Amino acid sequence: MTTIRFIREGVDIKCKPGENLRELVIKEKLQLYGLKGLLGNCGGVGQCSTCFISLEGGTKNSLSPITAVEQEKLKNRPENWRLACQTLISSSAIILTKPQSPPPNLKELKESAENKKLPR
Ligand code: FES
Repeated sequence: MTTIRFIREGVDIKCKPGENLRELVIKEKLQLYGLKGLLGNCGGVGQCSTCFISLEGGTKNSLSPITAVEQEKLKNRPENWRLACQTLISSSAIILTKPQSPPPNLKELKESAENKKLPR
């Protein structure tokens, strides 16, 4: 089992390596989408660009390699952004959902998430 730490929500979720990140978020009833994605998303086929997450805490190899779809859809976005629907979990990671609308206390939330030992 691996652990995904969700910064915004302040929760750690256990999952199996190979799980799809979008499916995990939905299964755990966390909110992946902003308003645009709530009003309409592609259902996880990599076409709507509404399922952004950012990978935080320097856990670079904890997600599957970036896909060709993401390379196209994430042009001009920060390097640590991914499309959750295109992302498989490899090992424990620290994730921010909806990085396009960060919470006002993001700095504190990130510090708190990164300072706690992440279960492997
Ligand atoms: S859900 Fe549409 S791109 Fe991920």
